[in-house]
Amino acid sequence: MISEALQKAREFEEQYGAYIDAEERPLFHLTPRIGWMNDPNGFSFYKGKAHIFYQYHPYSTKWGPMHWGHAVSEDMLRWEYLPAALAPDQSYDKAGCFSGSAIELEDGQQMLLYTGVREKRREDGVKLAYQTQCLAFGDGRDYVKYAKNPVLGEQDVPEGFSRHDFRDPKIYRRPEGGFGCVIGNRSDDKSGAILLYESKDAIHWHFRSVLDRCYNEYGKMWECPDTFELDGKQLLLVSPQDMCQAGLEFHNGNGTVCLIGSIDEQRGCLERERVQAIDYGIDFYAPQTLLTPDGRRVMIGWMQNWDTCIAPEGSKWFGQMSLPRELSLRDGRLIQHPVRELERLRGRRIAYHNVPVRAETVLQGIFGRTLDMTVTVRPQTADSYSVFRVKFAKGSQHYSSVSYRPDSSTMRISRVHAGYNRDFVHERKCFVADRGGELKLRIILDRFSAEVFVNDGEQVLTMTFYTPQSADGISFEAQGHAVIDVEKYDLMV
Ligand code: FRU
Repeated sequence: MISEALQKAREFEEQYGAYIDAEERPLFHLTPRIGWMNDPNGFSFYKGKAHIFYQYHPYSTKWGPMHWGHAVSEDMLRWEYLPAALAPDQSYDKAGCFSGSAIELEDGQQMLLYTGVREKRREDGVKLAYQTQCLAFGDGRDYVKYAKNPVLGEQDVPEGFSRHDFRDPKIYRRPEGGFGCVIGNRSDDKSGAILLYESKDAIHWHFRSVLDRCYNEYGKMWECPDTFELDGKQLLLVSPQDMCQAGLEFHNGNGTVCLIGSIDEQRGCLERERVQAIDYGIDFYAPQTLLTPDGRRVMIGWMQNWDTCIAPEGSKWFGQMSLPRELSLRDGRLIQHPVRELERLRGRRIAYHNVPVRAETVLQGIFGRTLDMTVTVRPQTADSYSVFRVKFAKGSQHYSSVSYRPDSSTMRISRVHAGYNRDFVHERKCFVADRGGELKLRIILDRFSAEVFVNDGEQVLTMTFYTPQSADGISFEAQGHAVIDVEKYDLMV
């Protein structure tokens, strides 16, 4: 039975989503069918296709009562919309169906595990939100909420942890059988923590342990956790709210953090060996991963940042997903590569070798807003250049850029000149490995975004920008002199 709220959302998206022309959207990054999108949810394979759900408010380009939007894909790049999967239509999720995950069950059903939010007024009139974990079962298109929801509630939160900030369950199959699930929380010291739950049947859950917590070191509330094994280590991805800047690794506000270590099986805790940011650009949050049928761990994130959610004037959608990225570890660090399926979208190739670069240089045929371009930079002598810069989405009035300074080994991404007339964050910097002036950049542009993979995925800097599409120029420049190779493919679907 489809509720009235879900029926209304489905009719609305079908009617108004159709008014959005393909050119108004990115080519291969997912946007909401209509209205607002935030976190990826339920990113997983089901019956041979990748499914993605997303935090969704179809009725405006602003956050509102959360629904789950839904899309499927063969290659995680070309998405086909399915009808909205969940609406806030029950007493336990009236204030929203918040983030969660999905899994295929033994009996062939797809199960969604999400946070139901309800609001209750205290005697003194203050409204409090309660967050509980709920289930829905379906066939990959239509879902029925479990009659005994919620399956994890206030009584399942251990002493010293919050019943109000208890959300974003990510389910996984345990190698030894049964299921595990990590849930974001805020501990009583008002800082981020991840609670671990276990279940034999994915329905009855019990608290196992505090997988990790940060004692106020990395933000106030850890949202959207994900945990998995990668190249012999255990990884925990979290998206903390209210972080404070720490060097060039973490910036103020909402961030993304990757904790790498191993599990102390007895205590059920992560023994951390390294903590790093996941993305060093401006727009990336709440990533979630899946395991592909051929064994790759692939991550996708919300390509946006909570502090700058202003839809361009006249836009009928707001919020994009990042490129799916293949994860691995190298020298103990998280490495990201665009999912290899992207290579199938490659069209015309243009390549240049050994081009000397000093002043701003334009290369014939190197332009566009939907492309996959690798730039390899070599210094002519050890300190032959002090800054190297690539400008893109460049027109007579606009450009965005990435630039590298070998003396400090820092990379900067900038949209200062992208056409925004609002005063929010437009630049971000990070450290990259010092290779004596050598640098490799893989830049993926898709109309309204740039994702820059530095030195074979050691860092990624992601940013959105809504510069008019006619600004499609690209240029290279060095203070001093550098020599570059450029290989560019146009991308098409
Ligand atoms: C993260 C988040 C989640 C929550 C959802 C609500 O961006 O705040 O913690 O479930 O968004 O839309």
